[in-house]
Amino acid sequence: MNAAPAELLSADAIQQRVLALGQQIAADYAGKSLVLLCVLKGSFVFAADLARAIDLPLRVEFLGVRSYGDDTRSSGVVQITLDLTRPIAGEHVVIVEDIVDTGLTLSYLREQLLARTPASVKVCALLHKPSRSVRPVQIDYLGFTVDDVFVVGYGLDHAERYRNLPYVGVLPAP
Ligand code: IMP
Ligand code: MG
Repeated sequence: MNAAPAELLSADAIQQRVLALGQQIAADYAGKSLVLLCVLKGSFVFAADLARAIDLPLRVEFLGVRSYGDDTRSSGVVQITLDLTRPIAGEHVVIVEDIVDTGLTLSYLREQLLARTPASVKVCALLHKPSRSVRPVQIDYLGFTVDDVFVVGYGLDHAERYRNLPYVGVLPAP
């Protein structure tokens, strides 16, 4: 059994930030038909909290993607593992991402979604690692910026572990 990941963002700090993001999104999308697009698996915890922080009628959709193996480095290959169950044509879509690292996943997703003619596509990411950017991507709603460390918890995994941690932490050195 490894030591627990060192806390980087506390559960309280995350909750406060998520509430603020939810309020901002609610103000921006008042009167519009909003689709929250949860990118699985990493965003499932964030999207669940964010959805409850947005006081508007909305629809939740899931899109499964895989861009990492069991390693801490991007493979650069994005694979869709689960597709939407309903069309998004004419809808205002907010992509909910756990973390934007190289930006490869998000730029690929954006292209795929725009081809389905939504009214608009914006991005809400809990975390951003700007130092690792390969493809520049616009993040319209951002939780926190993090340094170039591999983080886990609050939905984020390493080899499918740690997703259930209530905080975001840094893996101990192996
Ligand atoms: P990108 O395509 O390099 O931007 O990577 C995006 C995806 O890689 C995220 O949605 C995460 O699932 C995963 N990822 C990137 N950095 C981390 C990290 O530090 N911890 C856990 N997962 C990560
Ligand atoms: Mg992952």
